[in-house]
Amino acid sequence: MSYHNPHTPPRKSATFDDYTLAEIRRAAATGIYDIRGGGTKRKVPHFDDLLFLGASISRYPLEGYRERCDTSVVLGTRFARKPIELKIPITIAGMSFGALSGSAKEALGRGATAAGTSTTTGDGGMTDEERGHSQTLVYQYLPSRYGMNPKDLRRADAIEVVVGQGAKPGGGGMLLGQKISDRVAEMRNLPKGIDQRSACRHPDWTGPDDLEIKILELREITDWEKPIYVKVGGARPYYDTALAVKAGADVVVLDGMQGGTAATQDVFIEHVGMPTLACIRPAVQALQDLGMHRKVQLIVSGGIRSGADVAKALALGADAVAIGTAALVAIGDNDPKWEEEYQKLGTTAGAYDDWHEGKDPAGITTQDPDLMQRLDPVVAGRRLANYLKVMTLETQTIARACGKNHVHNLEPEDLVALTMEAAAMAQVPLAGTNWYPGKGGF
Ligand SMILES: Cc1cc2nc3c(=O)[nH]c(=O)nc-3n(C[C@H](O)[C@H](O)[C@H](O)COP(=O)(O)O)c2cc1C
Repeated sequence: MSYHNPHTPPRKSATFDDYTLAEIRRAAATGIYDIRGGGTKRKVPHFDDLLFLGASISRYPLEGYRERCDTSVVLGTRFARKPIELKIPITIAGMSFGALSGSAKEALGRGATAAGTSTTTGDGGMTDEERGHSQTLVYQYLPSRYGMNPKDLRRADAIEVVVGQGAKPGGGGMLLGQKISDRVAEMRNLPKGIDQRSACRHPDWTGPDDLEIKILELREITDWEKPIYVKVGGARPYYDTALAVKAGADVVVLDGMQGGTAATQDVFIEHVGMPTLACIRPAVQALQDLGMHRKVQLIVSGGIRSGADVAKALALGADAVAIGTAALVAIGDNDPKWEEEYQKLGTTAGAYDDWHEGKDPAGITTQDPDLMQRLDPVVAGRRLANYLKVMTLETQTIARACGKNHVHNLEPEDLVALTMEAAAMAQVPLAGTNWYPGKGGF
């Protein structure tokens, strides 16, 4: 005979929590997996788990109002004849036209240019909005080759060979039919209104030697002028960085699992790849082992939100960071002012991740002509410039407090970790100790 104590409230399972139960029911009802945009939603070790020590008796801080703290960064100093010079170490990550509207691309270009930094194209090619408004534009060379042509390679200021993305290392892109407008279809040379899946690997590669050949080919096409970046998803950062360097990259872009995407399977976003925090030190170690740290620059992305995140990524050895999701939020995505419309879509501002459906009330992740009108690219560009300025000031504030006259002089020695996991991943001591787990290799 079973007995239930009436004084004990019913207890739900932590394993089969409400979200999990709902997802099982959704899968059972529909027979299709969940596709969404954005990055990892569950909590993984991140920059929040690190703290700066700041100066005290043993360290000498800089005075904010009188003493300089530089933020400039030069990318592509290894081989390119025309390296890129940015005023700030924060760049705009590659986001495809198709995923984003033309006016969103224009807003990103305006904001980045005002702040003295670069934007990046994405799957689907280069738009005039973006080229026209981005003083410095990085052109992505992707496995899909959608929209790729030699003319645009030459119109770019740098080329980013995309091997992978943090949200889906090993996976390809998705663009659902509702976002394939006439213009998107024409640029990708594919039929209108039909779901597109981008390739997960380059068609002419079977290994790292082919990457070397490809980089040489791109250098020849662009007369050895443009820096060549290689972007990898955070999976095996030590070896991927070393192989990218061996293949001739000028810059390595490393995107951790919190990195956003316009669309992929939820199971991919949440279960494949490593946290951004865990990727940086192995990549820096690979550069150091090859004598290439600061010669081949490292750009880190995946969940960067504030100047504190920027400063921490730089202190761990990155030369710059890239932002995707935060830039979209800055220009107006998920803004509570559209709450009523988010509710109609069955979601709420702050949780809206159906960027693949093309119904974005903010007019950013859509190709719908009416929704697109809602985004004023001039105002949105100004908002992005403000946000980039604040992030830069925050980064400088922290660097000065640590006594650094350039943000690149931040170092692991300036950091401690709040948790053992973060201490192990970032290889900085647990706060209050001189110890971190996992010393001695990756
Ligand atoms: C809407 C959207 C579209 C994206 N499209 C591309 C793309 O075409 N190519 C690519 O390499 N990465 C793409 N990404 C990933 C970003 O380049 C970047 O790696 C990621 O957004 C960084 O993480 P964050 O969003 O947390 O800043 C996209 C991301 C978003 C949010």
